[in-house]
Amino acid sequence: MDRMNEIIEILNKANYEYYVLDNPSITDQEYDRYMQELIKIESNHPEWSRDDSPTKRVGGEVISEFKKIVHEKPMLSLSNVFNEDEIRLFDERIKKEVKPNYVCELKIDGLSVSLLYKKGKLVRGATRGDGVTGEDITHNVRTIKSIPLVINKPIDIEVRGEIYMSKKSFNNLNKKRAMNNEELLANPRNAAAGSVRQLDSKIAASRNLDCFIYHLPNPSDYGIKTHYEALKFMKDLGFIVNPNIELVDNIEGVLKYIDKWTSNREKLPYEIDGIVIKTNDFKQQELLGFTSKYPKWATAYKFPALEVLTKLKDIKFTVGRTGQVTPNAVLEPVRLMGSVISRATLHNEDYVLAKHIKIGDVVSIRKAGDVIPEVVEVKKDRRNGTEIEFKMIHNCPICNSELVKKDSSYYCINDKCDKIKIENLIHFVSRDAMYIEGFGDNIVEDFYNMGYLKNVVDFYELKQYKEELMELEGFGNKSINNLLSNIEKSKNNSLERLLFGLGIRYVGSKTAKILAKNYLNIDNLIQASYDDLIKVKDIGEVIAKSVVEYFQSNRQLIEELKKHNINMSYLGKTNVNENFAGKTFVLTGTLSSITRNEAKEKIEELGGNVSGSVSKKTDYVVVGENPGSKYENALKLGIEILTESEFLLKISK
Ligand code: IVH
Repeated sequence: MDRMNEIIEILNKANYEYYVLDNPSITDQEYDRYMQELIKIESNHPEWSRDDSPTKRVGGEVISEFKKIVHEKPMLSLSNVFNEDEIRLFDERIKKEVKPNYVCELKIDGLSVSLLYKKGKLVRGATRGDGVTGEDITHNVRTIKSIPLVINKPIDIEVRGEIYMSKKSFNNLNKKRAMNNEELLANPRNAAAGSVRQLDSKIAASRNLDCFIYHLPNPSDYGIKTHYEALKFMKDLGFIVNPNIELVDNIEGVLKYIDKWTSNREKLPYEIDGIVIKTNDFKQQELLGFTSKYPKWATAYKFPALEVLTKLKDIKFTVGRTGQVTPNAVLEPVRLMGSVISRATLHNEDYVLAKHIKIGDVVSIRKAGDVIPEVVEVKKDRRNGTEIEFKMIHNCPICNSELVKKDSSYYCINDKCDKIKIENLIHFVSRDAMYIEGFGDNIVEDFYNMGYLKNVVDFYELKQYKEELMELEGFGNKSINNLLSNIEKSKNNSLERLLFGLGIRYVGSKTAKILAKNYLNIDNLIQASYDDLIKVKDIGEVIAKSVVEYFQSNRQLIEELKKHNINMSYLGKTNVNENFAGKTFVLTGTLSSITRNEAKEKIEELGGNVSGSVSKKTDYVVVGENPGSKYENALKLGIEILTESEFLLKISK
C-alpha cells in the first residue's frame, strides 16, 4: 500500500508538471512504467483503490444513468453584446454604479462544468444543465488530464470552467470517424459535449478533452477580493487557467483586447466564439448584482457568425491542376462575413458520405479565415423527402477518361486532359508563382482554346503573335502590350517562383523557396539525388521523390525555358555558404564558445543540415570536449573532423 501511495504521488505530480507547468520532470517511458506498476498493485488489491489514482483517468467506469445534482449556487449564463456601441453601453451602465477595472478573457467554445473538491480531492464534476440542476459527469471528468484529481491544498472548494476539445483532437477524431464510415461531428463544441454525455467513460478518455478554469463561486471563503486574484489562486492550486487573460483599466483596454483576439483567434489551438468581460472587484460585482439569468457585472462580446444556413442546390465536379476531381456544393447564395457565397468545397466522396449530404439539403456553411467555405453539417430535420442521393462520378467530367482512386480522392490521369493543362497554365502565372499580371483565368483558358498556349513555354512565344492577338475581341494594343511586357518581366523572377510555377507535385511555395535557397540554381537542383534532397531540412521522402521524378521527365521543358533566357537562379537574400550547402554535420562533445543549439542554427542558416548520428552520409563531425562514440565512428568511417576552432573559422568565412 505504501508503494501504491508513493506511485500515485509521483504520477499526480508528473501530471501537474506536464499539464499545468508545461515542464515535465519524468520521461513518458518512466511515466508508463509507474503506471503499469500501479495498475498491477491495484488489480491485486482492488480494496485499496483510491479515487485520485491516475489509473482512474484511463476510463472504464460505466454508469447506468446520469444522476441529477443541484448546484449550490446557480450556474448563470452571460448576456451578449455584438458591437462597439453595445460594449460601451455595458460600460456606461456599470460606471453609473462603480469605478471598474475589467478582466478580459477568451470565451472558450465548449461546455461549462462545475468541479467540486473535498479536502483537496476531486469528488464531483457536473454539467450546467439548466443552471439550477445539472448532471453528474464525475466518471468522465476524471479522464480529463488537465483537470487535477488532487489539488495543491487539502481544502474544500468548487471551481467552474469550460471543457473543450482542441482543434487538433477534433480533426483527428473526425479523420478516424471518416475512415470508419461514421458520421462526422459538426464542431469541437459538439464533440466535447457529446463526449462528456456518455455513460461509458472510455469514450471520454479516448477523446483528449481539456479544461480551462475561469470562475470561483465562493471567493470570500478564501479571503479573495478580485477575480484576477481568484484566477491566480486557482492556478496555484493546480488548475489550468487560460494564459491569455488580461486585466485592463477601462473600456478602451477591453476594445484593444477584442481587436487583438479578433485577428488572432484562428491561431489559437482551440475555438473561441467571443470575449468575456468581467468586472474585477468582487465588492463591485456584488453591488451590480444579477438579473434572473445573467450577472450584470459581466458580458460576452460575440464574434460575428462564421456559419449560416442555406440550400445546397446541386453538386458539381471540378478537375484541379493535379487531376483531382472534387465535388463542390452549388449553394443558394448567402452573405457571410462580408461576402456572398455560392459555392463550397465538399473535398471528396468520403466527406460527402460521412456528412450524409444530399442534393436539396439545408446545410450550414462556414468560412474560417481565408479558406474556401465548407459545409459544416446537414440540417436533417429540414428534409422533405425530395432530396437526391449523392453519386460519385467515375469518369472525368472534361475528357471522360476513367478516374483512378488514390486514398480518398479520384484523379483524372490523362495528361492530355484539357482542364488539367489549363489549370497548370493558370498556376504558372499565378501570384505566388511567376506572377504575370493581366492573365486572368479566363484569358488563359481562351488562349489555350485558341491554340496560343499549349504549355508554359508558349507564354514566352506569344510575342510572335502580337498582331493577331491585338485583333482579338476585347483586347486592344495597350492590353496586349501590357501583357507581353509583364511576360518579359517575369523572366527575371527568382528561382523559387519558377519552381513553384512548374507545378511539381508536393512542392508548394514554401518548399520551392527551401529548394531554391539550398541549391541556388536549377542545374544544382536537377543534379541533386534523392539522398541529397532528403538531407535538406524540411524536405521529406515524398517531396524528394517527386522532385527527382519531375526532373527525370521534364528536362526538355527546362531546356526550352532556358532558351528564352528565363532566370533560373535564386536571387533572394542568401547566407548559403558553399562549404555548408547540402552538407551534413554531426556535433559531439561540449563546445565552449557556442551552444549546440546555436551551432545547429548556424549550420542550417548557412544551408547545411545537422544529424544526430554518424553515417557514410555525414560530411563533417564537429568535436568538442569529451566527445562520445560519434567521434570514434567518424574516425572509423574516415569522415572529416573539425575542432571547435576550425568549425568557428568555417562559419565565419
Ligand atoms: S464566465 C457568472 N468565462 O460561455 C459567469 N464563461 O455564454 C459565468 N464561457 O456558460 C461564466 N468561456 O460556458 C465565463 N472565460 C469564460 C468563458 C465562459 C466560455 C462559456 C460558459 C458560459 C457561456 C456563456
